[in-house]
Amino acid sequence: MPRRIIIDTDPGQDDAVAILLALASPELEVLGVTAVAGNVPLDLTARNARIVCELAKRPDIKVFAGCDRPLRHKLVTAEHVHGKTGLDGPQLPDPTMPLQPGHAIDFIIDTLREEPAGSVTLCPLGPLTNIATAFQRAPDIVERVQQVVLMGGAYFQVGNITPAAEFNIYVDPEAADIVMKSGCDIVFHPLDVTHKALTTAPRVQAFRDMGSEAGTMVAAWTDFFERFDKEKYGSPGAPLHDPCVIAYLLKPELFSGRRVNVEIELRSELTRGMTVADWWGVTDRAPNALFLGDVDAEGFFALLVDRIARL
Ligand code: RIB
Ligand code: CA
Repeated sequence: MPRRIIIDTDPGQDDAVAILLALASPELEVLGVTAVAGNVPLDLTARNARIVCELAKRPDIKVFAGCDRPLRHKLVTAEHVHGKTGLDGPQLPDPTMPLQPGHAIDFIIDTLREEPAGSVTLCPLGPLTNIATAFQRAPDIVERVQQVVLMGGAYFQVGNITPAAEFNIYVDPEAADIVMKSGCDIVFHPLDVTHKALTTAPRVQAFRDMGSEAGTMVAAWTDFFERFDKEKYGSPGAPLHDPCVIAYLLKPELFSGRRVNVEIELRSELTRGMTVADWWGVTDRAPNALFLGDVDAEGFFALLVDRIARL
């Protein structure tokens, strides 16, 4: 029985690779893809999500548009990283598959109510606005969620959009706070782990050598996406943040971390969106998340190459 997931996403090249990985893996059943404003505005994330589904030859996947702005703050986007379209590098035609009618929030609520309790995992890859709004509008669905496996936050790696905060949490810290306090079983993929899943020239070449449309596109996206991180961090490549979430569902043994308390900074402008992880257990705050810190990068990329090659 495949594991059933909803991918909530703000594509973004790394989101795109995560969606391809999920659609290439028979262990997973993607019940739907919900777009949220984040890396680029909602109209583009909703467009990009459909482009990726069509690249995977899956125009049957239901794609919904969700929230176009965070709960409280003004939308902050990341065109400086992902380019104007959010999927820069290659020039891509508009998708032909339609958006589903109806709002992503209603899809998330209805799906969790209709499917057996504990049978659907939420995989947020962008700001948590859609998830938090669904939880607020329908509190009864929270206990029906199997797991929330998300990309976001940072502790040892500190911030990437401000000195203190990682982008997904920074854009909508109030939404992250709602999710953290929901009582769901939460698995965090912070920068602490995603910064260890770096592209390298041989790894990108492995995608290019596939000779497939998907492999060529993944190589083109990582070529574009990595220029920013290589310049900023002087690293050999770019962190493939969001595919870590899907790889965890497929091979959790590739990852390690600790169950700790994680709280979100909401009040200070200086540290807004900081994920304060009590990694060393210096408070009596109850652990509320599995906060990952390490990944077998070779194993991660081997999985990624094996699956993308199937598309
Ligand atoms: O900070 C990295 C995260 O922000 C990734 O999910 C990337 O796609 C952007 O959404
Ligand atoms: Ca993302």
